[in-house]
Amino acid sequence: MAHPSIVAMAILAISLLPNQAVSTGPSVARLVGGSSSNNNNTDLAALLAFRYQLSDPLGVLASNWTSEASFCRWIGVSCSRRRQRVTALELPDLPLHGELSPHLGNLSFLRVLNLTSTDLFGSIPNDLGRLSRLLSQLTAISLGGNHLVGPIPSALGNLSMLSVLDVSYSNLSGQIPMELGQLRQLTLLHLGYNQLTGPIPSSIGNMSELLDIYLTSNELTGTVPSTLGNIRSLENLVIDSNNLNGNIDFLASLCNCQQLQFLIISFNPFNGALNPIYVGNLSTNLQIFEADNNQIIGGIPATLSNLSSLISIRLANNQLSQAIPVSLTKLENLQELDLSTNLLSGQIPTQIGMLKQLVRLLLRENKISGSIPDSLANITFLEAIDLSNNKLSSTAETSLFHLPNIIQLYASHNFLSGTLPPDSIIMQAVNQMDISDNRFVGHIPDSLANCRLLIYLNLSHNSFDASIPDSLHKLASLEALDLSFNNLSGTIPSYLANFSYLSSLNLSFNDLEGQVPIGGVFSNITLQALVGNDRLCGGAARLGFSPCLEKCDKPHPTHRRYFLRFVIPAATIAVVGITFCVYLLRRRGIKKADVKASIDMDDLTSHRTVSYYEILRATDNFSEDNQLGRGSFGKVFKGQLDDGMVVAIKVLDMQAAQAVRSFDAECNALRMARHRNLIRIITTCSNLDFRALLLQYMPNGSLEEHLHTGSRPYMGFFRRLVIMLDVSIAMEYLHHGYYQVVLHCDLKPSNVLFDEEMTAHVADFGIAKLLLGDDCSVVSASMPGTLGYMAPEYAFMGKASRKSDVFSFGIMLLEAFTGKRPTDAMFVGGLSLRQWVSEAFPARLIDVTDNKLLQDEVCPGLLSSSDTFLAPLFELGLMCSSESPEQRMAMNDVVAKLTEIKKDYSVSMQQALKGLEMQ
Ligand SMILES: *[C@@H]1O[C@H](CO)[C@@H](O)[C@H](O)[C@H]1NC(C)=O
Ligand SMILES: *[C@@H]1O[C@H](CO)[C@@H](O)[C@H](O)[C@H]1NC(C)=O
Ligand SMILES: *[C@@H]1O[C@H](CO)[C@@H](O)[C@H](O)[C@H]1NC(C)=O
Ligand SMILES: *[C@@H]1O[C@H](CO)[C@@H](O)[C@H](O)[C@H]1NC(C)=O
Ligand SMILES: *[C@@H]1O[C@H](CO)[C@@H](O)[C@H](O)[C@H]1NC(C)=O
Ligand SMILES: *[C@@H]1O[C@H](CO)[C@@H](O)[C@H](O)[C@H]1NC(C)=O
Ligand SMILES: *[C@@H]1O[C@H](CO)[C@@H](O)[C@H](O)[C@H]1NC(C)=O
Repeated sequence: MAHPSIVAMAILAISLLPNQAVSTGPSVARLVGGSSSNNNNTDLAALLAFRYQLSDPLGVLASNWTSEASFCRWIGVSCSRRRQRVTALELPDLPLHGELSPHLGNLSFLRVLNLTSTDLFGSIPNDLGRLSRLLSQLTAISLGGNHLVGPIPSALGNLSMLSVLDVSYSNLSGQIPMELGQLRQLTLLHLGYNQLTGPIPSSIGNMSELLDIYLTSNELTGTVPSTLGNIRSLENLVIDSNNLNGNIDFLASLCNCQQLQFLIISFNPFNGALNPIYVGNLSTNLQIFEADNNQIIGGIPATLSNLSSLISIRLANNQLSQAIPVSLTKLENLQELDLSTNLLSGQIPTQIGMLKQLVRLLLRENKISGSIPDSLANITFLEAIDLSNNKLSSTAETSLFHLPNIIQLYASHNFLSGTLPPDSIIMQAVNQMDISDNRFVGHIPDSLANCRLLIYLNLSHNSFDASIPDSLHKLASLEALDLSFNNLSGTIPSYLANFSYLSSLNLSFNDLEGQVPIGGVFSNITLQALVGNDRLCGGAARLGFSPCLEKCDKPHPTHRRYFLRFVIPAATIAVVGITFCVYLLRRRGIKKADVKASIDMDDLTSHRTVSYYEILRATDNFSEDNQLGRGSFGKVFKGQLDDGMVVAIKVLDMQAAQAVRSFDAECNALRMARHRNLIRIITTCSNLDFRALLLQYMPNGSLEEHLHTGSRPYMGFFRRLVIMLDVSIAMEYLHHGYYQVVLHCDLKPSNVLFDEEMTAHVADFGIAKLLLGDDCSVVSASMPGTLGYMAPEYAFMGKASRKSDVFSFGIMLLEAFTGKRPTDAMFVGGLSLRQWVSEAFPARLIDVTDNKLLQDEVCPGLLSSSDTFLAPLFELGLMCSSESPEQRMAMNDVVAKLTEIKKDYSVSMQQALKGLEMQ
């Protein structure tokens, strides 16, 4: 029997619900007071007390938590089946706005409490710990992303079954209670992004099941307890951005943690040198080692190369000295090496090109000398290189300008000399380039105009001469251009006034002459940006140049000479450009006719550029009204560009680091992948902290919507057949037709989109993987994939290959003609979509075929009367989705088979229609 005060409270809570609920108040009172032995009254009272403290701005609880249904049916509440007691309270991401009721401590059967990001404030009630006294099963507490204050209650240490404790991203203060060490079952401890102080308690080492420790971004002090070494299962230790101190030798204890994958200790004042023995004996599973922004001294141990799984090494902003060990070039998985701002000397290892996976190489602000190794050009994935502020010297025939996927190139403040390579700057993706303050000489080559995506270009403080080439008019994305302190002559090109994004221009201290252009950037230019060019004239009056006399407009005598020097190389470049295209096509080895259909030659030579600001305008500042969807990568918006073109804009979430790292290298190659059945990547927009893909806009939804939601027009058999054929053709192109093998890795109906003409386009291959060889496969834990469509070897071992895409295609084919998702509720236990079809094959295929197809046939009976079409179709789906990759077909064979089925069906349909006419 419930205590009267509880009943009163329940009524009070109920009476605060909106009208509908108020009217049912008495029945709740009866319900609460009426039941006898069963303690589910306590749970009801506790839930109402919880609800009472929240203002529930969206009214979700107000409209759902009503007496019309048992509380077990309330949104976010789960109950045990037999006893009808609350086992889970999960309302993540729902704005609740209020304080956590201590009465939650009365939910004695609670296992999971998930109130992540619900706008809670106040403190974490001690009473949660009380649950342990009622002989509790609480296994997970997720309260992250709120505004909770005060300490972490030490009573939580009594919750002996707890496996997940996440109170990150709040305003919690005080020390980490040592009592937490009693949580022997804990696997995830996330206390990051609070204001916790004091030391990491050494009792942490008692939590022997821990996989993840996140204490990042607090105000923790003291040394790292050596007891961490007791946690043999530890995979992720993330304690960066605190005030932890002491000697880096605590790494010794971590040598016991042989499962360690992420070790992130950046932004602490750790000191001492990296001991080669400790470093070399860390887990060989280590993928991420970040110890930047500490006070580490001494050399980088050569033994770091023992850790062969390393993907990222960050040691920037320390006091490391000596040379970069050559052994690091053995780390063949390395994608990021950041050693900036140290005291490193010696040379860049000549074998650096062995780091084939490297995406970011950051060595700025050291004392590195010698030349830039030729092998650098072998690192085809390199996106960012920063060698600035070193002592590098090199002739200009340098590998630095032969990096096809580079986005950021910084090499300023060195002793680089010689001329820029005249015809081989093929850095089509480069956004930022700064080679200022070196010893480059000669003219600015026309081939610089190949770098169409340049936003920032700094060539200042060199000895470039001759005039600013006309070809640079192609660099219309430029926002900042610095050519100051060179020996440039001739006039200021008037096209600079037409660069609509150019807001910073510096031409000072050259030998420029003639008219200062009017308009654009020049309407605002200061004298400082033009000073030191004594023969300039005209321009805005405020600049104070003398008016231009007639003779200033005459060609300068030297122009003729430059004509010969420039026009001839330009023509050569044009020829080289065409050869390049032909070469690409040859390598594709496709027939000429196909090439026409799939590749738009114009797009190879001119693609449009879009700046961040144009994207802002196009999406109305990323307004929600324009949002089309979101995924783990970020959000997709609809937008109208300045020229009226409507596009889909996929904005990458820069926090999803993994997504970002391989993004640019891949999409730059894929931008040229053109096919009627692939979503066209129109262009990309990249800068330091923003990346977006601009895609062809698809107004007619996805195959998923057409098949399942009823919100889109129904599709008959023939249409589905044509769509699946189109999808297979697109996949064939990615697998066999494009000059690199491209894997999709996430093929599913929601990634098949329709344009105005209802032509199917495969989408989301922008995050796919490029393969270099022909039959190689890649192993990666970080790639996308969707349950139900993932091949077993991909889902369980991360092994992606063309055959894993074929599997996804097979499942999709079965889905398209059964009308059942692989994740349909009927597929439980051992039964899968594939097995269900295979059991019906071939005799009972009618039973598994989408009913709607049989009912709505154009020519009734054509499908059901014979197994001419269903059998080969389902057989194809079954083969493609075979358990073993070897048994799956190749995409080009799939295309052939589907083409044949489509042809047979068309013929039969025509005959049947004729028959109908005759009747
Ligand atoms: C929760 O339990 C405590 C102690 O038994 C009691 O005082 C309190 O009234 C209960 N709260 C609710 C809402 O039932
Ligand atoms: C409480 O338990 C009783 C008896 O088992 C049951 O009839 C009643 O529906 C339960 N109430 C709720 C709200 O689940
Ligand atoms: C409350 O939400 C649950 C889960 O979404 C739903 O099944 C139930 O019908 C809703 N009840 C009311 C009264 O809206
Ligand atoms: C709580 O919900 C969030 C958001 O849905 C989810 O990411 C997290 O894994 C959940 N926590 C638990 C313990 O289930
Ligand atoms: C936690 O358990 C200890 C020992 O059983 C007990 O003394 C303490 O009161 C408990 N704390 C809470 C808040 O229940
Ligand atoms: C680049 O790689 C190729 C193939 O691995 C190799 O033959 C060549 O020597 C490398 N180039 C340099 C400069 O290291
Ligand atoms: C001129 O410069 C100011 C300040 O830098 C800026 O706000 C303004 O937009 C500029 N005007 C033009 C036309 O560029």
